[in-house]
Amino acid sequence: MDHFNYHHGVLHVEALSLETLAQRHGTPLYVYSRATLERHWHAFDRALGDHPHLVCYAVKANSSLAVLNLLARLGSGFDIVSVGELERVVRAGGDPGKVVFSGVGKRTDEMRRALELGIRCFNVESAAELERLNAEAGALGVTAPVSLRVNPDVDAQTHPYISTGLKENKFGVDVTDALELYRRAAALPHLNIIGIDCHIGSQLTRLEPFVDALHRVLHLARTLEDEGIRLHHLDLGGGLGICYRDEHPPLPEQYAQAMLAVLQDTHYEILVEPGRAIAGNAGVLLTQVEYLKPTRHKHFAIVDAAMNDLIRPALYSAWMDIVPVRPRGGEGIPYDVVGPVCETGDFLGKARTLDLAAGDLLAVRSAGAYGFTMSSNYNTRPRPAEVMVDGDRDWLIHRRQTLDELMAGETLLPG
Ligand code: LLP
Repeated sequence: MDHFNYHHGVLHVEALSLETLAQRHGTPLYVYSRATLERHWHAFDRALGDHPHLVCYAVKANSSLAVLNLLARLGSGFDIVSVGELERVVRAGGDPGKVVFSGVGKRTDEMRRALELGIRCFNVESAAELERLNAEAGALGVTAPVSLRVNPDVDAQTHPYISTGLKENKFGVDVTDALELYRRAAALPHLNIIGIDCHIGSQLTRLEPFVDALHRVLHLARTLEDEGIRLHHLDLGGGLGICYRDEHPPLPEQYAQAMLAVLQDTHYEILVEPGRAIAGNAGVLLTQVEYLKPTRHKHFAIVDAAMNDLIRPALYSAWMDIVPVRPRGGEGIPYDVVGPVCETGDFLGKARTLDLAAGDLLAVRSAGAYGFTMSSNYNTRPRPAEVMVDGDRDWLIHRRQTLDELMAGETLLPG
């Protein structure tokens, strides 16, 4: 459930109309709902109940400082993939002691900073990374807390670009090699093995792949215990899908119940790294129709948001719902909703039945995750503004980028 609903014929976020927000802040505009974000975070936290656990929100989904700050206030942990994301968490008031660091290519400087701040765990993805982390920790005179990210070779049954748990993917350590690597890690003096990590993909809409992966992870954990390598936690990664159109992904409660049923009486603390399921349906991208362009073949609605603002449709052929802020009530005709960028792939939606006039406002739903964070300056388009709504109040949490800011840092060659 989210807090984007029609009142008196106008789409609202919580108690504010999107028309009001467009007037105040202009378009294109990302609009987030605080109540929805918090509700989704609590859904995971509550679902894991009394079992020792930590919800580590995946920062890459939506890394706005205000979003991170709200989740930090709830006591959230964070899953990061770069030192940039780590600095964001710190600036947003997050606790480094609740940060897990994922990613296949951690640089030395990134490891150092994370060690200095005392993060909760490094999710290590290769033998070479293990060696480097050991050396860096030794140089700093500390011990690095480590999990190995294992690749359980299960098919997440999602888009190939966001499927990560198959053996041909670059992620993690093959589950069959993991035992050997754990032995090596245990012999390294500056590492402290504390867990296993696993993330098999994103936008999963069924429980089976999660359950299969967990069985494999648990089997490995037990084998390690037999060898005297005792783990403290299992990190189950993120990946729970959301409804964009007609998917029926499990709810966080159902997901947690399925996981806890497998874990039964085990002592492991459970870490989860949800991103999309927390932020996705907590945001929309608000855009205005610039022109209607009927051609012999199709009707185009040219809007002021483009693939640089929201790349998911162009990159993954992702279907994202596009709804009028103030429906006109007519039957509508099929429109391709496209942006001003000079690429045929620049579309937000195709063949959408809408009743439109130039100047109308449209909301692209489910844009709270992997929306702003994947935006770019392509075509020298400044990044859009971001607003957080809290009841009947709105906060500009990230002002629209100016052209000066966009070009700052560039220089001409000397004459
Ligand atoms: N943990 C790790 C290690 C990850 O790689 C990811 C996402 C997550 C957690 C969070 O997954 P989530 O709960 O959000 O599914 N840009 C794509 C999604 C890429 C996901 C990458 N990894 C999209 O727009 O669909």
